[in-house]
Amino acid sequence: SPSDPDLVERARAAKEKLGDKVFVLGHHYQRDEVIQFADVTGDSFKLARDAAARPEAEYIVFCGVHFMAESADILTGDEQKVVLPDLAAGCSMADMATAEQVAECWDVLTEAGIAEQVVPVSYMNSSADIKAFTGKHGGTICTSSNAERALNWAFEQGDKVLFLPDQHLGRNTAVRDLGMSLEDCVVYNPHKPNGGLTVDELRAAKMILWRGHCSVHGRFSLESVNDVRERIPGVNVLVHPECKHEVVAAADYVGSTEYIIKALEAAPAGSKWAIGTELNLVRRLANRFAPEGKEIVFLDKTVCFCSTMNRIDLPHLVWTLESLAEGRLVNRIEVDRETEQFAKLALERMLALP
Ligand code: 13P
Ligand code: SF4
Repeated sequence: SPSDPDLVERARAAKEKLGDKVFVLGHHYQRDEVIQFADVTGDSFKLARDAAARPEAEYIVFCGVHFMAESADILTGDEQKVVLPDLAAGCSMADMATAEQVAECWDVLTEAGIAEQVVPVSYMNSSADIKAFTGKHGGTICTSSNAERALNWAFEQGDKVLFLPDQHLGRNTAVRDLGMSLEDCVVYNPHKPNGGLTVDELRAAKMILWRGHCSVHGRFSLESVNDVRERIPGVNVLVHPECKHEVVAAADYVGSTEYIIKALEAAPAGSKWAIGTELNLVRRLANRFAPEGKEIVFLDKTVCFCSTMNRIDLPHLVWTLESLAEGRLVNRIEVDRETEQFAKLALERMLALP
């Protein structure tokens, strides 16, 4: 939707007043009306890295979701304040693994006698508590752009991986990139006793996948891939690795949001693309590349925006910037010291991946 010109002007004025004191980060899934004010845009890996790149900025306004703001707080100094324009911008996938459930899972692995062989690898899309658990148990964080390297690293440290919380990214990476079979993977269901697994199943598994998923990407289906191929002959199907395994297996290309953008930048004029990721990004890319003669469509018209990403809108951004410009610190995201210490260990292992 076109932005309200008054709000655009107010955001501009407040940002100008704040000057170098504010640094605005925008995830690729943010609305156009918000993204226009981002100093840096990126996927979750790039934003985690860039958050620490402006130590002189007192405020980091994170236009994204809660776990991203937490990660930015963990990776920046105490004097830098990370602000999330709407505190209700969470992530349903991150909410699928709580600290209590993961502690219980570790007990199950310990009782099965395998905990010592297990290295936790947690997707960036997880709470600071889960990142701290990961750091404490010798594991690393990964994002969709470095999951393969993270898994290779983990299998050098131990012979099993507990992958949290996105079963699809875990399975897709293990099978597509590491050449494992589907039988090497089991799914741990936190709502069932012992995760719904027998001791023998746990002992035989290489990848123990947490039963979490993205409510947006989980809705793309094999049928939508087949339909688009029929509708648009010669179409290239490009999907995010949070999609189900059968969708990823049927696609031509798979990658993070940053990968998707680069692939389309490099695509020749006249090429046709169906993209399976969040709608704000797909629309922006379709508009951006249409003049170059690249036809870009959304993989499945029944899939919607990520509702929590969309909570950050121009009114929330204006309120945030104006509050900060008036010296009122609002919506600060602050991870407690102990959690931060261990979560940082896990994040730094990711940043140091070869
Ligand atoms: P990336 O930006 O790492 O591709 O992640 C996608 C996502 O779902 C973020 O919430
Ligand atoms: Fe979470 Fe999925 Fe939304 Fe990303 S797109 S923030 S994983 S619900």
